[in-house]
Amino acid sequence: MYIYKAAVIGAGTMGAGIAQVITYSGLPVILRDMNQEAVDRGLATVRKIYQNRVDKGKMTESEMEQKMALVSGATDNSGFSDVDIVIEAIYEDIAVKQKLFQELESVCPEGCIFASNTSSLPISAIASATKKPDKVIGMHFFNPAPVMKLIEVIPGLGTSDETIDDVVLFSESLRKIPIRVQECAGFLVNRLLMPYLNEAAIALQEGAEPAKSIDAALVDFGMPMGPLTLFDMVGIDVSVKVSDILHDAYGPRATAAAILRELEKANRLGTKNGAGFYEYDDEKREDLQILIDKVENKGVEKSEFSANRLIMPMINEAVISLQEGVASAEDIDIAMMAGTGFPQDKGGPLHYADQIGVDVVLSELESLTKAHGERFWPAPMLKRMVLGGYLGEKAGKGFFHY
Ligand code: 3HC
Repeated sequence: MYIYKAAVIGAGTMGAGIAQVITYSGLPVILRDMNQEAVDRGLATVRKIYQNRVDKGKMTESEMEQKMALVSGATDNSGFSDVDIVIEAIYEDIAVKQKLFQELESVCPEGCIFASNTSSLPISAIASATKKPDKVIGMHFFNPAPVMKLIEVIPGLGTSDETIDDVVLFSESLRKIPIRVQECAGFLVNRLLMPYLNEAAIALQEGAEPAKSIDAALVDFGMPMGPLTLFDMVGIDVSVKVSDILHDAYGPRATAAAILRELEKANRLGTKNGAGFYEYDDEKREDLQILIDKVENKGVEKSEFSANRLIMPMINEAVISLQEGVASAEDIDIAMMAGTGFPQDKGGPLHYADQIGVDVVLSELESLTKAHGERFWPAPMLKRMVLGGYLGEKAGKGFFHY
């Protein structure tokens, strides 16, 4: 099915970013939210993204107006009768998402695809409330949506092959890289990213290094921004929600750093409200150090820090995901580069493991387990690979062949 017209529900940062991406590819899109104020804010966000390009000389004013003419705001369902795909980007509440798709099923055409931009809620569960689970799918964009190339395409148990193919082709028409991911908590990228981000927060609360040094170490490694800065961009509240879903699925290794909850309680939610791990305005509020001091049972007074402390759990989770068949080794690496900016010269977490040696990754994880606990427990596949001589580039074989 060719997609001629789209609708995005939820005009927040992600929804507006997705609407901009769709209009940029030349397709009309309805941007719907609860009230006119939210819709206007969303439309202003879309315009701001285009204005930025105009200011940089990357497009003309008239090209911007042509693109803006493709997006129309809505607070109701008028205009949905010829929509081919609806992408919801509302808050993470499964019952609300189910109700939304139920409501839209009765106004959208027969063949309409219902895609969810959920970060971590199960697609099959969202689909279960609809009449056509074959038309429901996950289409997970990354923040900032206009820049990050990845779209995770997540079929639920009942999603049809036709819907998957349509969404893959649609994603490509948006000039994005679609990667098909098996449904699991956190899908692929959040599942790998969270252990990395969370470890930065644990290192901070343990007094290993100040926030700026932790961030600088990972920028030195080649990441586009530091993990604590990224937490602030994603949102502390969103991160806590994703972490809780991961913990629920994967147990103790995915326990959220306590400092995240202290930040949330102190209403330091990240860039969106002026402060998170860092401060972005001059308002008076509880200092980060006071919140760190509130964290109980830190375990250690001052622990050691290195970039490896964050990168190794990301690699480990990549290996566990590979074992589970969440995605192929190639796709895992592409997804992490396109979705999080993992350094291209390192080729993604699994190519990087091959570069430094699978045996080195295993022994690093063993040392980290001794120093910091069982959340670093190496994936069984790593041990098998080392015993079998799959040591990476130096052996001519590892996660890939050389
Ligand atoms: N909206 C639109 N465009 C933006 C933008 C935004 N919010 N932020 C940056 N840009 C554009 C800039 O205009 C610039 O465009 P240009 O190349 O045409 O001039 C380009 O992006 C690069 O921006 P900058 O030069 O200002 O800054 P950087 O080169 O440092 O890039 C970044 C900024 C793209 C945010 C980069 O730091 C990055 O890739 N960070 C990692 C982001 C990441 O990991 N995202 C995933 C988070 S997890 C997630 O979203 C999942 C969810 O479910 C939780």
